[in-house]
Amino acid sequence: MITTKAIGENQRVFALSNSHFSYVFRVSPEGILEHLHYGGTLSSPLEVAAHHRRTQRHAITEFEGTPHLSLTGLPQEYPSFGTSDYRFPAFQARNSDGNTVFVPLYKSYRILDGKSDMDSLPQARGEGVQTLIVTLEDALHGLEVELRYSIWEDFGILARSSRLMNHSDAVIHLHHAYSSALDLPPDDYDAVHLWGTWSREMNKERVPLPRGRFVIDSAKGTSSSTHVPFLALAQKSASESRGRIYASTLVYSGNHSFSAEVGEFDDVRLLAGINPLGFQWQLSPNGGQFMTPEALHVFTDQGFRGMSHSFHNFVRARITPEPFAAKPRPTYLNTWEAAYFDIDQDKVLLLADKAVELGVDMLVVDDGWFKGREDDTTSLGDWTADPVRFSKGIPWLAKQVRKKGLKFGLWFEPEMVNPQSDLFKAHPEWALHVPGRKPSLGRNQLTLDLSRSDVVDHLYGQLDAILSCGDIDYVKWDMNRNMTEVGSAALPPDRQQEVGHRYMLGLYALIDRLTTAYPNVLFENCASGGNRMDLGMLSYFPQTWTSDLCDPVGRLSIINGASLFLPLDCLAAYVGPSPNHQNGRITSIDTRFLAGAFNAPRGISLSEADIDQDLSRLQHWMAWSKQTAPDMIGGRFDRLITDDNEVCWQYMTADRVTVYLAYFSILSHPNAPFWRARMQGLERLGDYRLEGTDQIFRGDALMESGLPLPYVTTSQTSANVDYMPKGDFSAALMTFRKL
Ligand code: DGJ
Repeated sequence: MITTKAIGENQRVFALSNSHFSYVFRVSPEGILEHLHYGGTLSSPLEVAAHHRRTQRHAITEFEGTPHLSLTGLPQEYPSFGTSDYRFPAFQARNSDGNTVFVPLYKSYRILDGKSDMDSLPQARGEGVQTLIVTLEDALHGLEVELRYSIWEDFGILARSSRLMNHSDAVIHLHHAYSSALDLPPDDYDAVHLWGTWSREMNKERVPLPRGRFVIDSAKGTSSSTHVPFLALAQKSASESRGRIYASTLVYSGNHSFSAEVGEFDDVRLLAGINPLGFQWQLSPNGGQFMTPEALHVFTDQGFRGMSHSFHNFVRARITPEPFAAKPRPTYLNTWEAAYFDIDQDKVLLLADKAVELGVDMLVVDDGWFKGREDDTTSLGDWTADPVRFSKGIPWLAKQVRKKGLKFGLWFEPEMVNPQSDLFKAHPEWALHVPGRKPSLGRNQLTLDLSRSDVVDHLYGQLDAILSCGDIDYVKWDMNRNMTEVGSAALPPDRQQEVGHRYMLGLYALIDRLTTAYPNVLFENCASGGNRMDLGMLSYFPQTWTSDLCDPVGRLSIINGASLFLPLDCLAAYVGPSPNHQNGRITSIDTRFLAGAFNAPRGISLSEADIDQDLSRLQHWMAWSKQTAPDMIGGRFDRLITDDNEVCWQYMTADRVTVYLAYFSILSHPNAPFWRARMQGLERLGDYRLEGTDQIFRGDALMESGLPLPYVTTSQTSANVDYMPKGDFSAALMTFRKL
């Protein structure tokens, strides 16, 4: 997969190639890493270098006196600033002379079978992978830059990260360091990204890539729903099923930045990494280093479908923690929208009985169970059961719930503290803060300083004290505010800009320790819904709460957006109340369930009265969820129709035998057009029976001609006339089985 060869004096070419893509660069005569190709697979990738020609340009600044060479026109692997490249650089640092001019040149390389250490940052797992490590050096200031490239045999993913090391005897101040830079040739690109806010996550925006620098980023201390860590550059003509796309995400959960800069020669520089805003790092003399998070890149010429499949297959196989990656997920009844803070052990046991009646696998006690927590103004940090409402304690309650044949789940928000809590009274210095300023509260709470190892150890002890009872099967790990006044009492003034990233390292250390100690506990990531849905958190937690909006219409667009890079295996969904508590929309149980039918983690959050009202329909869907739980892991998801009013999704099981179609029509229009679901990935000559009917379809017909929607069997229509269901927010499920 990785090949290299010397090409003349001091020159070398490197190629990474598999059946999905080839990536090629060379060491130029000047020692610069010059990018040559990222795109479709080449039969002889190393040969690209032989045909490479540099364009001679006029009226340029010439790099260190090299005739006709300006770095601003040169595609590079990890460009720096200050000589002749005027675009935004991959990194910037200040040396002991006080300037920011660094020129790292090629020094050496090595190729590993597997991956290399990431200094406690999460990274994609290294089976069937090779890693190329190229070392560059700025000899004048003793800065070493290590670029890592990993390529897997079976996946269309290129992983990149960078390590910067100070070998001089003076401090180097790192101002920013991206994980990767991709200098792409000119093309007619659109930028495609995901934006949102609480309860309105994952909206897809597609805009023409303007000249200048297009940036999406987060400075909120989380990867955020405002700008999700995902950016795709798609050819103007790219559609769901065809066209060239470059897409990137990060295995990181803190502040990120993705930028695409169209240069003066129409070339495009894509940077992915930690947000320079609010970040600096001191590289100590004689060995201080900084490791960037891992960036994942996809190239496809198969449109958004090809891009999503590359991400989905990879996330399942190399990000989702084992053994959960292949495990069917339990269905659950969650107490949040059933009772909010009005919860006690008796109510939990009543809901547990309901859970048994519903046929779900697990009862989850959400917020409100710990000491004094009767609303959201108090008690975060005090992780012991409320002595009045949960007088018998969590281990007792967990046991009672389990005796009913259910699993037991519990909510925590470990990273937070309310000023009104025993923890804050004992340790006010444990909250993030800056001296002399009043802290800004969010949901009445402060963020604990996870850059401190004493805080991390304390939190481990708190969770361990409860989880060690052995009767807890699932933890919902919530995080309900963005960060402000990001400062630490434990660090000196000249290291305060490091707190944001050190927080992430502390968080990863904590959840790594917990998930290692409790390998059978299923952890669900959550941050006010989807405010931290990224591959960093998903490296430890197999699933994530998708959004606090469970209104099915809202969920359709959230899933359409999230599925651009996240597989539905890891996105949790539940049937919530109607009218919906967030937007007041009234919808049927069927539509509410079907909007989350293809998500592997599925459940219900309804009061007893609401459950009783729709009991039989809920029982039906929970039985269906249980029966299809193994199907919803590892299969293939396709967005067939994503119109504003009509949505149709296909889900095919991993064995390719069962194909589910879910069709949603949002507002009902009289005499409306018929849409067609052109199904995907079927066996062309295979025969598929539509369950519940005797109708058999040929695979190629379902793919090429498509299924008219809504599909109504002749026995359902009177005299074979066209039939359109009436009413808003309708949904239908069809199941095809290959004969
Ligand atoms: C925000 C989450 O997104 C909700 O699902 C719920 O757990 C609440 N927090 C509890 O406070």
